[in-house]
Amino acid sequence: MSVSEDLRKQAARDLQAATALSIAFVGVARGLFSALAAAPATAEALAAASGLDAAYVARWCDAAYAFGYLDDGAGGFALTDLGHAYRPEVEGSLMAFAVRSVLSAHMAERASELMPSGKCLGSEEIEGSGALSPLFGAMLEANFAAFFERQILPHIAAFSDADKRAGLVVDLGCGNGWYLRALARHFPHLRGIGLDGMAENIRQAVAKAQEHGLDRRLGFQLGDIHAFTVAEPADVIAMNRALHHVWTQKESVFRMLAERLKPGGAAVIWEPNWPASRADLRDPTRRGMAFQNLTEHLQGNHLLRPQEIEAAMQAVGLATSVHAFANGNETVVVGTKAAA
Ligand SMILES: C[S@@+](CC[C@H](N)C(=O)[O-])C[C@H]1O[C@@H](n2cnc3c(N)ncnc32)[C@H](O)[C@@H]1O
Repeated sequence: MSVSEDLRKQAARDLQAATALSIAFVGVARGLFSALAAAPATAEALAAASGLDAAYVARWCDAAYAFGYLDDGAGGFALTDLGHAYRPEVEGSLMAFAVRSVLSAHMAERASELMPSGKCLGSEEIEGSGALSPLFGAMLEANFAAFFERQILPHIAAFSDADKRAGLVVDLGCGNGWYLRALARHFPHLRGIGLDGMAENIRQAVAKAQEHGLDRRLGFQLGDIHAFTVAEPADVIAMNRALHHVWTQKESVFRMLAERLKPGGAAVIWEPNWPASRADLRDPTRRGMAFQNLTEHLQGNHLLRPQEIEAAMQAVGLATSVHAFANGNETVVVGTKAAA
């Protein structure tokens, strides 16, 4: 059987799309889109201002021009609207698409390498990848922060209840701290502690809390979820896309959550909703989840169904409620500890 011309054209379009995102990734990772925002520049001037090698930057400028991120005019290269959209600092930035595309290629290469042995790697796989590690937290923030603030936050009563008590929110596996910053902006009395095992995430979370004037209310610590302790019982313990990283030790994790919550406090756990039926994975909004599950396996993890999370909460005496978002693709499971 020979391959049809239509299938060849489709593959060529897919390749162009992946190449476009690879070029955008270099611009995001090296701050080139941001550097060009102020004024057009020649490749030499851009390289000098960014402290980068002029020959690499010249070739990147050609590629970015070819793919429509840059125009070439009197003052040198200038950002097009598309180029502006990849600046990490603009609201609704597209930078996460570029980072995810390159992270996906990196993970695909590792998965194919490890498939014969069945070996899994730790989360240091991401931490160890030089250009990706500093962008990981910002990628998750660009993907989820606006969605959280608009769609999820208004529907979870545990946050406003904690605010009324000037309570403490603990975020386990906090990434770059965007979730606690969002809560602190919305709820003026809340205090927060974030914990993460990646030093780069904690460094960014501390810096951003300072930058946003929230450092008196938010603290961040490097550490392991399994060894987490708090000086006072928490009103909310949140885990966003972090529970599946520690699921193999779920019994001890949930025991710890129940112990460290105040009476009346709540565990608020947000995870992608792994669908009950394989056929559901064909939906374009869920395909990415199927690939994510392959890459999660690389780290010894798998995506979860809300019923599994509920059962683990109920086993330690928490009363559960399940909240579905994004057409059922995202789930927040709340487990409330009985009031004293
Ligand atoms: C998918 S990321 C989610 C980050 C953040 N919650 C967010 O929504 O952007 C999972 C995070 O959990 C952290 N993590 C995974 N296992 C951990 C552990 N055992 N102890 C501490 N942090 C852990 C990782 O470093 C990573 O930042």
